[in-house]
Amino acid sequence: MAGITNANLNSIDKVELINIPKISDPEGRGNLSVVENNTLPFEVRRVYYLYDVPSDASRGGHAHIALEQCLVAVSGSFDVVLHDGKNKKIIHLNKPNKGLVIPSGIWRELENFSSGSVCLALVSAVYDESDYIRNFESFKLFKGG
Ligand code: TYD
Repeated sequence: MAGITNANLNSIDKVELINIPKISDPEGRGNLSVVENNTLPFEVRRVYYLYDVPSDASRGGHAHIALEQCLVAVSGSFDVVLHDGKNKKIIHLNKPNKGLVIPSGIWRELENFSSGSVCLALVSAVYDESDYIRNFESFKLFKGG
């Protein structure tokens, strides 16, 4: 599995903002976005979502050894703070047709949730606590620094 092999090598450059196809209704009845098998660079094995997150709360605060994921602001907006052990990048998500694909081995924190926002996570594996690195110092060691 690519995630396990590359997790310690993956850099922020591997994080990708992808377009999720949007079908706008010709009669003005709104939009529909669809994620299919070939939309993402991995197979989706689990879906979860964050909601009712207070604006001053921070979610995430971990990296994954193998898991890959795609985050979508299906409603509202939030910031994703990414770190690869050397470099940091902040991505603001606020469009239901944009997906942030985060490979394995990238530290992430989710902040500044707008009122009523929903973060959808499409991920490559079932829940496994042993796949998490929850300590930033341990993460930096894992990345070789
Ligand atoms: P965590 O992944 O730390 O959430 P976040 O990164 O959004 O802050 O998970 C929070 C809690 O929920 C933790 O106790 C593990 C549990 N959890 C599950 O039981 N199943 C899941 O699929 C997920 C994502 C979390």
